Amino acid sequence: MAWKIEMKMMMMMILLLGVVLVEGTTTSSKAKAKAKATVIKGGAPHRNAYATMMYMGTPRDYEFYVATRVMLRSLAKLKVDADLVVIASLDVPLRWVQAMEQEDGAKVVRVENLNNPYKKQANFDWRFMLTMNKIYVWSLVDYDRVVMLDSDNIFLQKTDELFQCGQFCAVFINPCVFHTGLFVLQPSMEVFKDMVHELENERDNPDGADQGFIGGYFPNLLDRPMFHPPTNGTKLNGTYRLPLGYQMDASYYYLKLRWSVPCGPNSVITFPSAPWLKPWYWWSWPVLPLGISWHERRLQTLGYGAEMAAVLIQLVLYVGLLAVTRLARPNMSKLWYRRVDKSSTLMQMALKLVAIWSIIAAYVVPFFLIPRTVHPVLGWTLYLLASFALSSVSTNAFLLPMLPVLAPWVGILGALLVMAFPWYPDGIVRAISVLGYAFVCAPFIWASIVKVMTSLQVSLEKEAFFPRLGDSTPPPGINKLC
Ligand SMILES: *[C@@H]1O[C@H](CO)[C@@H](O)[C@H](O)[C@H]1NC(C)=O
Ligand SMILES: *[C@@H]1O[C@H](CO)[C@@H](O)[C@H](O)[C@H]1NC(C)=O
Repeated sequence: MAWKIEMKMMMMMILLLGVVLVEGTTTSSKAKAKAKATVIKGGAPHRNAYATMMYMGTPRDYEFYVATRVMLRSLAKLKVDADLVVIASLDVPLRWVQAMEQEDGAKVVRVENLNNPYKKQANFDWRFMLTMNKIYVWSLVDYDRVVMLDSDNIFLQKTDELFQCGQFCAVFINPCVFHTGLFVLQPSMEVFKDMVHELENERDNPDGADQGFIGGYFPNLLDRPMFHPPTNGTKLNGTYRLPLGYQMDASYYYLKLRWSVPCGPNSVITFPSAPWLKPWYWWSWPVLPLGISWHERRLQTLGYGAEMAAVLIQLVLYVGLLAVTRLARPNMSKLWYRRVDKSSTLMQMALKLVAIWSIIAAYVVPFFLIPRTVHPVLGWTLYLLASFALSSVSTNAFLLPMLPVLAPWVGILGALLVMAFPWYPDGIVRAISVLGYAFVCAPFIWASIVKVMTSLQVSLEKEAFFPRLGDSTPPPGINKLC
């Protein structure tokens, strides 16, 4: 019976994967064709630009590359009246540069990494080592105005009015500190040289990153007037604060599950929270409701072609693993139990530990194997398949009952459904629902842990004291739940 259920679940997962795969690859080829068309159309250079930076040397380089491309394509899709510029350090791979130039229609400016003198500071975070490259944006003097962006921005609409702002404009998403994830500037060699000079002189910088440096360079921005674009289209002079709607903090959204910035535009979402909660990771949704917005943009623009090979290989691997453990079920455990001398308690302890770790690994390891930037639906489907396949290896190798070993699996699936439920009135109700679900689940998970431990004990002792020689029937304990 369990066999049938397993087959059904597997078929469903494969079906779901198939749908997502087809969707992902077709949109990516469509997007590619479209991108080529826009590059050919692109005529005279613009007077303004949207710029972002890219550098190498963090474990997340590839993710930022994908995020940058999706942002560039989204801006192109919004038909912005501006150039798209990427300030890339010299070590960014040539094929990435070519993809951004030829497929995304960006201009790539190569720069040498600026030394970060704050790396000696006690609170220094190494992932900010090269963020000082951001000040190169002041050297883009071919443009009247530049909107400088981090790659974790989602544009809800075009923001070309920002080019009417003055020499420096930024958003205060924190009451006292403006955010450097999006700001407007007038490029100037004079300012650029002065900044490099200040950097060499180690101007005070509380966080050792671009945020602290640029914040310190424009200390009076909080007292400046709010930017309102003149309706006659003229460019302003001076420095301004920008309305909050240009950098809506994703965490506000999670409270209400909608935007409620009543004044000014609702234009750009930013994700200033922990780096592993950036929206491009597959685990970001349904954990964070906004992750899907980023993936919608990726699906419409870049597509998922780049990760499909890895996804297919893993899919085959997990299905194969499931089939092998299924077919080899009686023989595998027999071999394994006969070879090991389990008469010593030490050996029993070791086997127990291996069994427990193998079950934990079944739920943890897939997070490291699945390509991090795939679509959440694809990512979670692959995760469920992988943890299912790996759990069934432990179940069969250690003669454990299947249902208790799979209890966390069912729990995770339920949690995903509770989180993805689309009709919550606000974030508080959603959070309470998730908590309530966890509360209801906890006793079941606990019971299944107890069950697994006792079955493990039973199967180890039984094997130790009555070594089976040749008969392939599993011990009676396993038939009860399986
Ligand atoms: C445009 O409007 C601003 C005020 O919004 C005004 O100061 C400026 O003189 C106007 N410029 C032109 C060319 O009309
Ligand atoms: C801003 O300054 C520039 C150059 O100094 C000048 O040409 C322009 O008219 C000024 N714009 C406004 C709106 O004052």
